[in-house]
Amino acid sequence: MKDTKTYVEENKQRFIDELIDLLKIPSISANSKYKNDMLKTAEAVKKSLLEAGCDMAEINETPGHPVVYGEKIIDPNLPTVLVYGHYDVQPPDPVNLWDSPPFEPVIKETKTHPDGAIFARGACDDKGQMYMHVKALEYMTKNDSLPCNVKFMIEGEEEVGSENLGWFIENNRDKLKNDVILISDTGMIAKDTPSITTGLRGLSYMEVEVTGPNRDLHSGLYGGAVANPINILCKMISSLQDEDNRITIPGFYDKVKEYNEDERAKMAEAPFDLKEYKEKLNIEEVHGEEGFSTLERASIRPTLDVNGIWGGYTGEGAKTVLPSKAYAKISMRLVSDQDWKEISALFKDYFEKIAPKSVKVNVSTHHGGQAYVTPIDTLEYQAANDAYTEAFGKAPIPQHSGGSIPIVALFEQELKSKTILMGFGLDTDAIHSPNEHFGIWNYLKGIETIPLFYKHFTKLKLAEKSDQ
Ligand code: BES
Ligand code: MN
Ligand code: MN
Repeated sequence: MKDTKTYVEENKQRFIDELIDLLKIPSISANSKYKNDMLKTAEAVKKSLLEAGCDMAEINETPGHPVVYGEKIIDPNLPTVLVYGHYDVQPPDPVNLWDSPPFEPVIKETKTHPDGAIFARGACDDKGQMYMHVKALEYMTKNDSLPCNVKFMIEGEEEVGSENLGWFIENNRDKLKNDVILISDTGMIAKDTPSITTGLRGLSYMEVEVTGPNRDLHSGLYGGAVANPINILCKMISSLQDEDNRITIPGFYDKVKEYNEDERAKMAEAPFDLKEYKEKLNIEEVHGEEGFSTLERASIRPTLDVNGIWGGYTGEGAKTVLPSKAYAKISMRLVSDQDWKEISALFKDYFEKIAPKSVKVNVSTHHGGQAYVTPIDTLEYQAANDAYTEAFGKAPIPQHSGGSIPIVALFEQELKSKTILMGFGLDTDAIHSPNEHFGIWNYLKGIETIPLFYKHFTKLKLAEKSDQ
């Protein structure tokens, strides 16, 4: 039996090549033009699961993109780990800002990744991180070190809100039965500072349409006398935050969990360099809710952001027009114990209320999800803590993240097990941005750490069982 480090070192080039092949398929879930590539990717994931040692793997149709399921059951009396990940990726736009084409992966060295990083859409979010689990399984099956049962559920709609995954889970509760859910779709603080994500924000994603006159008008003949929906929309949006950058929607903060001074002091122990943060983004000053630190603003506090705004003439040159319509996509990141459906309704009511009579507004909800907080005094967390400590030589720091994986809260509710978020990406990996990449060191370190989680989890779980 080889140890993981040796096996990873010997198979490193193949691990990289296989991931590169997967990254070449443009699995963009948001765009129906790529439906076929979604299928191709699902097929490739299924094949990789079988090759890594799964007894069975299948592609499950849903009303949307398929879910890949695979399993290796070695003994029904042993614990079961359920791995979740997603094979879909964000659209690569704006493509002209990429230094190399998003679906033609290349390896380049960066300051943070002197061993090289793979540049491609999905490299870190989430194909690279998902594939670490496939390769970790390969190691365990080839080296007789798989200590428990394993199931994989790899979906194709995470980046568009996992709308059909709830349906899939409800219909496959028995099949998905497990003792812990393991996900690598988040980040870590730094290569020498391992961390485990203990919180995710919820999300409420809205779209608004503001209509003024029934047609586009000459802005000279009508301007000043008829409401311009873009002007009105901008005013309405800016009134959603006050001078302290707090959200003005009545009731918005009612269920926000407030942390006490001790808890805040503990969170503030995580290493964070504000100067470097600003330099990396090329900004003079940060911005956010009064009374909270940057780390807090980006993790334990709720937010409201415009993701896109359009209307009127945006083509070349100038056109004088008073447009009939204006639109915006607005998202709110939520924290526990806010309920995303409640917040969406509060937003809708308020937005309709603040609209002047000169325009009509139409507010609709795209998708959402609940925030998630995982306790650290559990067997599951202990196992993850032990795995990182063994792999990195130091204990990981528990940290709340600002991102969302909406399905995680639902997992717990439906499958009644805890989730461990073992992310290996770095903040600088540019997920959702041009030039997304994933460090080769991080990729291989993930493959090395995952089997240790299986080992510690199984050990602790069996010890707990024999105690009872
Ligand atoms: N993997 C990310 C979420 C993430 C990234 C969490 C880094 C923590 C750290 C996921 O793929 C994602 O992008 N989620 C979306 C939500 C979804 C409904 C589109 C997000 O957070 O915007
Ligand atoms: Mn992701
Ligand atoms: Mn994502």
